[in-house]
Amino acid sequence: MLVLGIETSCDETGVALYDKCEGLLAHTLHSQIPTHSKYGGVVPELASRDHIRFLIPILNETLKQANRQTKDLNAIAYTAGPGLIGALLTGATFAKSLSFALRIPSIAINHLEAHLLAAKLDCKNLDFPFLVLLVSGGHTQLIKAISLNNYEILGETVDDAAGEAFDKTAKLLGIKYPGGPLLAKLADNCDKSSLAPFPRPMLKSGNLDFSFSGLKTHALTVWQKNKHDENMRNQIAKSFQDAVVDTLTQKCKKALNITGFKKLVIAGGVGANLNLRNSLKNLMHDLHGEIFFPKIEFCTDNGAMVAYTGFLKLEQGLKDSNYQINVKARWPFNEN
Ligand code: KG4
Ligand code: ZN
Repeated sequence: MLVLGIETSCDETGVALYDKCEGLLAHTLHSQIPTHSKYGGVVPELASRDHIRFLIPILNETLKQANRQTKDLNAIAYTAGPGLIGALLTGATFAKSLSFALRIPSIAINHLEAHLLAAKLDCKNLDFPFLVLLVSGGHTQLIKAISLNNYEILGETVDDAAGEAFDKTAKLLGIKYPGGPLLAKLADNCDKSSLAPFPRPMLKSGNLDFSFSGLKTHALTVWQKNKHDENMRNQIAKSFQDAVVDTLTQKCKKALNITGFKKLVIAGGVGANLNLRNSLKNLMHDLHGEIFFPKIEFCTDNGAMVAYTGFLKLEQGLKDSNYQINVKARWPFNEN
């Protein structure tokens, strides 16, 4: 079975081909950073237009890389939410039209579930159940993954997501879009911050929820007092990153303790953060457990995770029941 995956939930156009026997055959990503950077963030209408412009060339490029043609496809998986509604509509309409033209099934994929399963792309020995730390631009959640289609949210952010906090803090420090990864780079320029440690929000909350919006305000206050100091940006970036990484690590430890799980999976864009990866590796080493990460390129948005999630669901006999185009800006992944 050869599955085409299409991702257009935000500002990356991703297309991939996953084959039952040969695994991931090819994947292509078109990043819209140049389109949005002059506005300091994603402009939804421009994102939709870019997806429309690039979907066909990227599909052709991916087919070429894999030495396949559209007639070889057996099914099409596409992100149907959550995300920007216009952006989602471009991918869903494209996928549904192609599925109609080729007379092959399509399947709507939840973007968060695709992130959650991305680590399995390269770790086929990763079996359910496991604990997932999902840290993206829109979500920060601890999830009990019991089986495919069966997930329980144990805790989540009550305000900003971890990625959002990285992005907003970067903006406050005058770092250009996309701020999160650039802020992480600045943090890595600083071995040790001389600032007083930043707060670790909600560590004593007694639950598995998170809160990151206060950290960003804390960073702003320190920045306003020390703007004259050239080295201060790196130090704030380092203190901020340390606080986020430590908070996420402590909450994972607690969740592992509560669930008794010995396997931890990292998902979502912030999972590309090397400090976070190292901290969680050390935690699992100390706990004699196992840790699974997607490759860095599959932490952030991509078509491969969509094609693969589609493949797993199609194998279970799931598929769209009609040609209606339904996308959802909000879609908790444990709801149908
Ligand atoms: O999963 P993703 O690509 O998109 C969403 O589904 O949201 O995540 C994007 C988020 C952004 O907030 C970005 O700043 C953050 O992931 N991110 C990082 C790093 N790379 C991406 N945050 C911290 N360190 C990084 N290296
Ligand atoms: Zn994402």
